[in-house]
Amino acid sequence: MFLFKYCKSVTIYRMMEERIVIKAKLIFGFLIVIYTSITCPFAADTVSANQTVRYNETIISAQESFELGFFRPGKSMNFYVGIWYKNLPNKTVVWVANRNTPLTHTSGELTLTLQGALVIRDATNGHVVWSSANSSTTSVKKPIGQLLDTGNFIIYEEGEGISQEDPKWQSFDFMTDTLLPGMKFGWNLIKGIDRHFTSCKSVDDPAAGNFTSRIDISGYPEVILRDGQEILFRSGPWNGLSFSGTPNLKPNQYFNFTFVLNEKEIYYQYNLIQTSVITRLVLSPSGRPERLLWSESKQEWSFYDAPETDACDQYALCGPFGSCNIQNSPACSCLKGFEPRSPHQWRNIDWSQGCRHSIPLDCDPAEGFNKYSNLKLPDTRESWYNQTMTLVECEKMCKSNCSCTAYTNTNISGTGSGCLLWFGPLMDIKTYAENGDTLYIRVSASELGNVSNKRTRRGPLQFTGTPEHEQENDPENKSDDEDLELPLLGLSTLVTATNNFSVDNKLGEGGFGPVYKGVLEDGQEIAVKRLAQTSTQGLHEFKNEVISISKLQHRNLVKLLGCCIERAEKMLIYEYMPNKGLDSFIFDRSQSKLLDWPTRYHIIIGIARGLLYLHQDSRLRIIHRDLKVSNILLDKDMNPKISDFGMARSFGGNQIEANTNRVVGTYGYMAPEYAGDGTFSIKTDVYSFGVLVLEIVCGEKNRGFTHKEHGHNLIGHAWGLHKEGTSLELVAKCLGESIDAPQVLRSIHVGLLCVQRHPEDRPTMTSVIHMLGSEGSLPSPKEPGFYFGESTQGFYEGSYEASSTNELSITTLNGR
Ligand SMILES: *[C@@H]1O[C@H](CO)[C@@H](O)[C@H](O)[C@H]1NC(C)=O
Ligand SMILES: *[C@@H]1O[C@H](CO)[C@@H](O)[C@H](O)[C@H]1NC(C)=O
Ligand SMILES: *[C@@H]1O[C@H](CO)[C@@H](O)[C@H](O)[C@H]1NC(C)=O
Ligand SMILES: *[C@@H]1O[C@H](CO)[C@@H](O)[C@H](O)[C@H]1NC(C)=O
Ligand SMILES: *[C@@H]1O[C@H](CO)[C@@H](O)[C@H](O)[C@H]1NC(C)=O
Ligand SMILES: *[C@@H]1O[C@H](CO)[C@@H](O)[C@H](O)[C@H]1NC(C)=O
Ligand SMILES: *[C@@H]1O[C@H](CO)[C@@H](O)[C@H](O)[C@H]1NC(C)=O
Ligand SMILES: *[C@@H]1O[C@H](CO)[C@@H](O)[C@H](O)[C@H]1NC(C)=O
Ligand SMILES: *[C@@H]1O[C@H](CO)[C@@H](O)[C@H](O)[C@H]1NC(C)=O
Ligand SMILES: *[C@@H]1O[C@H](CO)[C@@H](O)[C@H](O)[C@H]1NC(C)=O
Ligand SMILES: *[C@@H]1O[C@H](CO)[C@@H](O)[C@H](O)[C@H]1NC(C)=O
Ligand SMILES: *[C@@H]1O[C@H](CO)[C@@H](O)[C@H](O)[C@H]1NC(C)=O
Repeated sequence: MFLFKYCKSVTIYRMMEERIVIKAKLIFGFLIVIYTSITCPFAADTVSANQTVRYNETIISAQESFELGFFRPGKSMNFYVGIWYKNLPNKTVVWVANRNTPLTHTSGELTLTLQGALVIRDATNGHVVWSSANSSTTSVKKPIGQLLDTGNFIIYEEGEGISQEDPKWQSFDFMTDTLLPGMKFGWNLIKGIDRHFTSCKSVDDPAAGNFTSRIDISGYPEVILRDGQEILFRSGPWNGLSFSGTPNLKPNQYFNFTFVLNEKEIYYQYNLIQTSVITRLVLSPSGRPERLLWSESKQEWSFYDAPETDACDQYALCGPFGSCNIQNSPACSCLKGFEPRSPHQWRNIDWSQGCRHSIPLDCDPAEGFNKYSNLKLPDTRESWYNQTMTLVECEKMCKSNCSCTAYTNTNISGTGSGCLLWFGPLMDIKTYAENGDTLYIRVSASELGNVSNKRTRRGPLQFTGTPEHEQENDPENKSDDEDLELPLLGLSTLVTATNNFSVDNKLGEGGFGPVYKGVLEDGQEIAVKRLAQTSTQGLHEFKNEVISISKLQHRNLVKLLGCCIERAEKMLIYEYMPNKGLDSFIFDRSQSKLLDWPTRYHIIIGIARGLLYLHQDSRLRIIHRDLKVSNILLDKDMNPKISDFGMARSFGGNQIEANTNRVVGTYGYMAPEYAGDGTFSIKTDVYSFGVLVLEIVCGEKNRGFTHKEHGHNLIGHAWGLHKEGTSLELVAKCLGESIDAPQVLRSIHVGLLCVQRHPEDRPTMTSVIHMLGSEGSLPSPKEPGFYFGESTQGFYEGSYEASSTNELSITTLNGR
């Protein structure tokens, strides 16, 4: 039993690890305990009334998880009282008492007063610089302060067993910038406590910074991140499974999470599933909410998760009734049935006015609701809700009030329940490719059911049928999708599926190993990538990486279905693409006729979007490093899907460039700085993309191409034609009439911008997409890399020659 932990003495560690006993005191007054204090093996986790902790002393939780005491952050000259992880090498502070009132010297004293307040005094003059109590706090009779292993410091009344559950005071109620497992982020409505994040000014200064993140409860609760008063980001409301605007928050192996909403409390909380895991959620000094995970092997914090932050997360970017879709260019569009309020401003990329109903509403009883799928639900600050109503009751209620503009369930789990109503303009809607929420929006009678299920090629917004007949995006199906644990397949399953990796099943060779076609027992076709066994990567790292990659989802990326780790084998299982690689079309005399210009353009745009997602929109920053025609697969509708990004290099948050001694890639697509020095960055991919574009336009391989007259390679040839203003000569013969000349010229121009010699001159994928989609003038490209005026031989000489149909990736190359 917990009571008989034999050491009841108060021991306080000195900072220098030298232990001294300051005071021995009974915690449980009614028990007579034999004093064993001098040899006590436990650190003290408690502080008793009138006891003082000095600068060189700390309090340590029972299992030694956390430590409380004075500290000096980084380069700061100030001293604070805080709580940090006891066993991590660098003090990672999770809570600060006097963040705004630091001491400037070491003569501070932390005391638990006889009234039960924790106070920090400046010992030189006796002034209180911080106190846990204020005038409205009632005093505690026999107070005890205790640092728990959760990282919570609590003050409770001696002798009351239950008081630890509901302490008089706890540090968890006064969050700084960190949410630990078990902490409640949100409201205690009874006590009026609003636990929220306030960023630190900097890593060296824990003072309250400009960013806050709190649960707003003026309507249906949602998390709002602000810079001062300005709203930066909204989580969207809790839909029963996750926040509408954070689709990445999914069940996982490390922690589970809940959102509690009742008359007493409204909060978000997460708890560890594996207690050995160390994780925290922090609002960084720059205002980014970040989930960090302690890596035992690397001995550092690594990013586990941060909400996707693409341009569409910027609050209300597209104005009222506008919807933001990062896969489109431009990102803003009006919802179906709506039109720009100010067409002129809209055309000039000023979306602030937003959209309005194409056919205005006039409170006609025949008005109704159309169903919109895959959305981030709009701002709920002026919404109304009832958690027990059904969807049918909800519709009735919304219909009966003409100012009600939209409704949906509050809880999509199960068959869906609850009612959430919006009044007035719908703000800050985002459209996802999948797994978004459903919203029923009021439209005029004539617009009812005026919907199209077809996703047009350029028509971005997913818009699906009427409420009653719509099955495919039923919320019921969503809960299954949430469970995104990546399946682990057995080696024997894959041996069977691929006919023991028979040569006949081999589809090709990727940058990281051969790829085989396989058929699972249930008939599903798969592509199995068998990673070369030379990898030095540890198993744990591989697993982590695969789990991260499985979260990459974009319609222009090949989907990862599972993986296999057995004995020395590491394999990745992807969806099978029946149309194979783009190379089998554009470089094939007869097949190439099937790819007309609109299809080619569609493919170019798709690749650009997939690459942008890898570079920027996914939480990992991924550099593909082996982008080439044969790594672009085509689905049955000729949508391009980038493959082989699986083992590409992922970068942490701000890293933009790296160096490798293992150059992977394919000659003809490799940027000069990469092939030469092994330096790679997103601009290395941009270069390869440029080569791809030229190849798609021209239907020739950069590498195989040698101009009959001047011996230029494809890039050199394209550059020459561009300078002479005759770029159209580059266009593949088979394209004939189908070309849209301005679009072709623009594509070539952008391609040449991408293959410029200096990485800093090349555009980012964001601007590539922008340039391809706009009509404005383009900058002039500078001379391309790997363009050898007289001859193409220089670089390519002595390189590995592959058969004409099979471009080999170079997996090792003795870099410098
Ligand atoms: C509290 O501590 C101060 C100084 O440490 C001491 O003078 C005082 O008597 C103590 N009060 C009680 C009630 O123990
Ligand atoms: C801690 O510091 C105080 C004053 O700064 C000093 O008087 C005391 O001896 C120190 N305690 C130990 C154990 O070093
Ligand atoms: C005192 O604390 C309560 C809650 O702990 C808080 O709501 C109140 O604003 C505080 N009052 C002052 C004057 O700081
Ligand atoms: C915080 O806000 C103040 C006042 O608006 C501004 O001067 C300061 O630069 C901001 N700090 C940061 C880190 O943004
Ligand atoms: C989360 O996991 C913990 C530990 O396994 C468990 O006690 C708790 O009930 C779980 N909570 C939820 C909401 O699933
Ligand atoms: C710990 O601090 C040292 C010195 O500031 C730094 O070099 C090291 O990277 C830090 N380690 C971690 C895990 O943050
Ligand atoms: C919610 O709706 C139910 C069923 O319509 C009703 O009984 C209940 O009183 C409503 N609750 C609130 C708070 O309006
Ligand atoms: C419609 O809803 C609004 C907002 O809740 C409310 O102010 C108004 O009184 C309602 N009108 C009717 C007719 O119920
Ligand atoms: C949401 O619905 C599910 C399934 O009906 C239910 O188990 C859960 O308690 C509901 N959540 C809330 C917050 O009402
Ligand atoms: C349906 O929508 C289209 C445009 O999206 C519009 O042109 C057409 O008039 C609408 N049909 C009806 C019956 O309102
Ligand atoms: C889930 O979706 C499938 C089609 O994708 C449909 O056949 C099935 O009925 C749906 N299940 C539920 C429970 O709605
Ligand atoms: C698969 O092939 C390997 C060698 O290529 C052979 O050693 C192994 O026995 C084969 N396994 C099966 C199940 O046929």
